[in-house]
Amino acid sequence: MSDLEQRLADLDDQGLRRRMRLVSGPQGPRVVLDGKGVLLLCSNNYLGLADHQRVREAAADAAMRWGAGAGASRLVSGTMTIHRRLEARLAEFKGTESTVLFGSGYLANIGVVSALAAAGGPDTVVFSDALNHASIVDGCRLARAQTVVYDHCDVEHLRWCLEQHAGRPAVIVTDSVFSMDGDVAPLGEIAELAQRFGARLVVDEAHGTGCSGPGGRGSVADAGLDGVVDVVVGTLGKALGAYGAFAACSRTMTDFLTNTSRPLIFSTAPPPPAVAAALAALELLIEEPGRVDRLQANADALRDGLAREGFEVAGSTTQIVPLIVGDAALAMRICEQAIMGGVFAQAIRPPTVPDGTSRLRLAVMASHSKAELREAARVLGRAALQAGFRPGAGVPVAAAQPARSPRAVRVA
Ligand SMILES: Cc1ncc(COP(=O)(O)O)c(C=O)c1O
Repeated sequence: MSDLEQRLADLDDQGLRRRMRLVSGPQGPRVVLDGKGVLLLCSNNYLGLADHQRVREAAADAAMRWGAGAGASRLVSGTMTIHRRLEARLAEFKGTESTVLFGSGYLANIGVVSALAAAGGPDTVVFSDALNHASIVDGCRLARAQTVVYDHCDVEHLRWCLEQHAGRPAVIVTDSVFSMDGDVAPLGEIAELAQRFGARLVVDEAHGTGCSGPGGRGSVADAGLDGVVDVVVGTLGKALGAYGAFAACSRTMTDFLTNTSRPLIFSTAPPPPAVAAALAALELLIEEPGRVDRLQANADALRDGLAREGFEVAGSTTQIVPLIVGDAALAMRICEQAIMGGVFAQAIRPPTVPDGTSRLRLAVMASHSKAELREAARVLGRAALQAGFRPGAGVPVAAAQPARSPRAVRVA
């Protein structure tokens, strides 16, 4: 057995081996999964825009007008009319001076965090929430700055960490809506600490963009923090149904990122069809803000249905609802049972989530019907029992956090 085969066998033994499932057709509320029709409850196509006629047509038209690919990085010859158009419209939508596109949310986070850490010089400290997305963790690694991980959403711990490093250049970085727990960072208090300690603040709105705040403008806008956060990162591949990402900030900041952010400089510009699709989706979001209300009402309906089945769902306040079961193999069994019952909600296991907190991560769409969500809750309740898990017996969301203790962790 080769070392690679051995490693895969180890993953099998731990219930952590992954494989890709095949979805035929577009990301609608119902899909064909590995040949079986199911309700899709784990797509980030939150507003149902990825499969919207106008969004598809915009992508097709852009392919005919500008071609399939941008052909070069933004700083060489890859900046096209459509990139500029989307950047201008996103800046209006976010109420910032400027925005700059990135190839994906992953690239935006590693690019922004590493560039801002470098701006402060080698003495810079990055303060990062314990449950931040992997792309932020990798941004900290790329930065090679000292990274202090504070307990999840714990402003007292963050304050203590900032005090320990007072006087040094600092960057605080947090998700707004946490991708695996569906809770929201205490952005107002974090912004206050950033101001008090002179730290730059980066907020990743991957799951806030299009989903929370007035007209889907995000959790930063919801918290009244427009103009306070130094860089807001938003994605185009989730609620906006396309692919790519952006940083919304001051003109000086986009200029700085354009000059220093490695994933922006050293990677081909986003393809015109994806950019045009995101622009069409943004126009739809602005024209039809009711989509955001429907998404939030659907999330409430799903949580109600799950609570009726006995699941503990209090930790989520957004369209992301985790059913935490703890054990990885158990999470997989429930997932398979649910698929047999016609509901696809992917099991999420370490290292995506901390050890002992494997879960089904449910993601609601505005395009689901309430009846579909009520039925899905019943199917999930049955699937859990069939797999040997009593709903409600799992680790509550708060237990996904590390024990609260003043501690500083070096990531890189
Ligand atoms: C919080 C968060 N940030 C960033 C990303 C990366 O975004 P993208 O999929 O556009 O690379 C994700 C993706 O799942 C995410 O959940």
